[in-house]
Amino acid sequence: MSDTRNIRNLALVGFMGVGKTTIGHLLAAQLDFRFVDTDQLIEAQAGHTIAEIFAKSGEATFRELERQVVQALKTYSNTVIATGGGLPCLGDNLAELKTHALTVCLWASPESVYERVRHQAHRPLLHTPDPLGKIRELLALREPYYRQADILVSTDTRSPRDLVSLLAYEFRSVVQKS
Ligand code: S3P
Repeated sequence: MSDTRNIRNLALVGFMGVGKTTIGHLLAAQLDFRFVDTDQLIEAQAGHTIAEIFAKSGEATFRELERQVVQALKTYSNTVIATGGGLPCLGDNLAELKTHALTVCLWASPESVYERVRHQAHRPLLHTPDPLGKIRELLALREPYYRQADILVSTDTRSPRDLVSLLAYEFRSVVQKS
């Protein structure tokens, strides 16, 4: 790991519905870390839900709020950070996260993402007549960014419990070596 990095957090990146929040909470408990979610930080700061921000101010405003949260995260330690699905694909966000966090991409096929999100209504980008088509399109556009994470793991083939053990082990090994 490069010496320009000071790994003290773990950041989960990946598409909507891959389980960043679920895995993040379990992983934080396993590592005895705090858990934060960038969407929740934005909602607390803005005083509006993500859906309201998209509807009232547009996606560009939301992305600027994400960028600001990424800057604020630089002061964090001992934290598992779940990030919004688009966050690592814009600007320097992923590079900024990497300065202090081991970045882990949780991956899932478009079909499993669709199965997981189809009964949830809080994601404005999926309010479209063809959500599965939109998932395929966005996932293809985002894959090159997700692949830049330090670790990429499939959530289609491993249980949350297995993933948490694996990621806690990987995190501890990286921190020990640095
Ligand atoms: C988004 C993902 C959402 C949220 C917003 C935009 C995206 O977070 O940040 O609706 O661009 O993929 P989750 O990945 O936690 O659903």
